[in-house]
Amino acid sequence: MERQLIKIILTYEGDKRELCVEGWVRTKRESKGITFLEINDGSTIKNLQVVAEGTLDGYDSLMKRINTGCSVVITGKLIPSQGKGQAVELTASAIEVIGETPENYVLQKKRHSFEFLREIAHLRPRTNTFGAVARIRSSMSFAIHKFFQERDFVYVHTPIITGSDCEGAGEMFQVTTLPLEEIKGRTGGIDYAEDFFGKKASLTVSGQLEGETYACALKNIYTFGPTFRAENSNTSRHLSEFWMIEPEMAFCDLNRNMKVAEEFIKYIFAHVLENCADDMDFFDQHISKGVVENLQSIVKSSFEHVTYTRAVEEIEKSGAKFEFPVSWGTDLQSEHEKFLTEEIFKKPIIVTDYPKEIKAFYMKLNDDGKTVRAMDVLVPRLGEIIGGSERESDYGKLEKRIIDSGLEPKDYWWYLELRKFGTVPHAGFGLGFERLIQFVTGMQNIRDVIPFPRAPKSLDF
Ligand code: 4AD
Ligand code: MG
Repeated sequence: MERQLIKIILTYEGDKRELCVEGWVRTKRESKGITFLEINDGSTIKNLQVVAEGTLDGYDSLMKRINTGCSVVITGKLIPSQGKGQAVELTASAIEVIGETPENYVLQKKRHSFEFLREIAHLRPRTNTFGAVARIRSSMSFAIHKFFQERDFVYVHTPIITGSDCEGAGEMFQVTTLPLEEIKGRTGGIDYAEDFFGKKASLTVSGQLEGETYACALKNIYTFGPTFRAENSNTSRHLSEFWMIEPEMAFCDLNRNMKVAEEFIKYIFAHVLENCADDMDFFDQHISKGVVENLQSIVKSSFEHVTYTRAVEEIEKSGAKFEFPVSWGTDLQSEHEKFLTEEIFKKPIIVTDYPKEIKAFYMKLNDDGKTVRAMDVLVPRLGEIIGGSERESDYGKLEKRIIDSGLEPKDYWWYLELRKFGTVPHAGFGLGFERLIQFVTGMQNIRDVIPFPRAPKSLDF
């Protein structure tokens, strides 16, 4: 007999074929000696309706055991549905209860707040929202690889444990096997020569620096992996552990970098619209009205390009009031990023040429000596979703930028050497995967688009 996923079953005609389905009971509705079960198996947001008639073997005892959440294996015939809401239904010929659920199963109740569901992160994938988020994450990961593989980018696995701070911002989690409890009371500081690697080690904040070494050999590469930031940001768009996609291209300047970023984002959006229609309908109806139309319009639009200098002028000209005032030289806060995308340009924008003081050391210095070839892609509702740049490819200028940023050239000796041997203009960017999922689904909080969120003072699972 055909054992099949509900996603596939729902594409069949009700032609009385015999089927076996495995899943979990979402709801049970009894009426006059007949029971309707909604079964979900995670393959789709949609449920399969199963009809159990009173004549079924062991009907009474079965129905006593079946509750929301229990796992079942059901065989039966697929027929055109008699009721509204579904084209086909399964008339059960046998039901096997695999795992029962007691009355106090917390997901019996239909609606829970997302805050509460974070406290039961082990059960939340069983809800419509988190099931849909998981499928969208998976489909988008596939689309990301597909985009780059179709363009001959090489997928490079950059390390998680590193000795260098890519962003130079000192927001790294340390990795150590030193006996911290013992060291606590000791004076004279810590001797990292005694530590596991013989030097200070951390979790990476970005795979970019190592990615550049491969781009300077294989031309076009990308990374897609977890990154870690010990920044104390308790916001709805920051995580301490998040996934980042980082392409890096040799023989590439900022203009091409911007083109790739825009094409990439549109490609993923188009993929999701085409391949995750049921889940996207759910987000559109229940999470954020208009989210589908928004993606459709972005796929057709073109991103606005604006320099940092002009962006600041636009904000100043508007006369709008902000918590953090803006003037040339200050970093754009998320309130300014939202204002630019939502009020001024009303679409995604790419802001370029930021002051060098507010950007990382590796960005190429412009001829004005004040700004760097940086690019941030900003989107409505979220602000920054991509950060990237053309890289400084001149040895002397890069060394000076490292020193001026308060960093040690000797810590970046191998990165500097890329500029000594066959240096080449190159550029790349980093897309925050969870911010992307937030944007696509319309989910408010970044902690609800990753299975097990990590944030300051929060590690419950
Ligand atoms: O702008 P960022 O810091 O850029 C880099 O890390 C570069 N090395 C990328 C590159 O050029 N290869 O981070 C890139 C993106 C941000 O635009 C944002 O989407 C995301 O990573 N991001 C975060 N997402 C969730 N939580 C955080 N704490 C994040 N910090 C950055
Ligand atoms: Mg950034």
